[in-house]
Amino acid sequence: MSQTGKPRIAVIGSTNVDLVTYLKRMPKPGETIAADSFAMGQGGKGANQAVAAAKLGADVVMVGAVGEDAFAGTTLAHLAGYGVDVSHIRRALGISSGVASILVDPSGENVIMIVAGANGTVSADDIRDASADLMTCDLILLQLEIPLAAVYAALEFGKKHGVKTLLNPAPATPALDPEKVNLASFLTPNETELAILTGMPVETETEIATAAKTLIAKGVGTVIVTMGSRGALLVEAQAVTHIAPVKVSPVDTVGAGDAFVGAFARYYASGLGVVPALKKASAYAADSVTRRGTQDAYATEAEFDRICAAPTNG
Ligand code: RIB
Repeated sequence: MSQTGKPRIAVIGSTNVDLVTYLKRMPKPGETIAADSFAMGQGGKGANQAVAAAKLGADVVMVGAVGEDAFAGTTLAHLAGYGVDVSHIRRALGISSGVASILVDPSGENVIMIVAGANGTVSADDIRDASADLMTCDLILLQLEIPLAAVYAALEFGKKHGVKTLLNPAPATPALDPEKVNLASFLTPNETELAILTGMPVETETEIATAAKTLIAKGVGTVIVTMGSRGALLVEAQAVTHIAPVKVSPVDTVGAGDAFVGAFARYYASGLGVVPALKKASAYAADSVTRRGTQDAYATEAEFDRICAAPTNG
């Protein structure tokens, strides 16, 4: 907890500018199609998670990098506007900020192409420079849009200093070292990421639980497998718990996983148990897909409290 009594969360990760095109259907290779509309927003898995937690009332510090371009100042101002401490977001010279080109179809499905830009310069040095602040945090959140060496350094930092870590292994990469992953207190893969991490089948919930348990056997504290419209599976050493999905009609699913992680971190770090925190996270992520965009679409704490109190959610 911070001195203000709020849960204190660190995010070590990416900031992107999201260039989003909304279209009727995804184009085929070589095809040109007219799209319906375009929007520019703030994204990046790290920044999205930071903003979700901050909008829900957590004290959030972010470690990362922006580039030397017009996007950098906007990104920093946007994060600071949501109350995120940006003093450990470095300006990398001679390189662009992170950019994500995103296509969204009417069902809310998406494809995303990212240019790492400055995110690719985040290193163990950034973690060392922020170490005094990181040591005051209840939980450190990590994703895979920064170099793996920085992610490993953060996992090692958390282990060494007794600060819990949550690794969201997205976007999936076979380069992720399973030995380093085992340092995480929480791991939040989706089914695809779990399959890549374990090399095991993940079609059924039984297979998912079996695969996740192999990670627990190797040292991961808790595995939370996100299964989209099927909800989530919490896999611990002694128990497997299904977290039911919250049914909504999605219009844009971009950033839903980040809303889930940011909300889980905020509620878990404030002392709620893992299962109630996951139920909150599930409701928060479901709400986020009912609006277009990512950070600006996430509910504030007051809005989310009203959503949770509504009779249909009781
Ligand atoms: O998880 C969604 C995010 O992935 C987007 O905001 C985009 O920036 C990419 O990083």
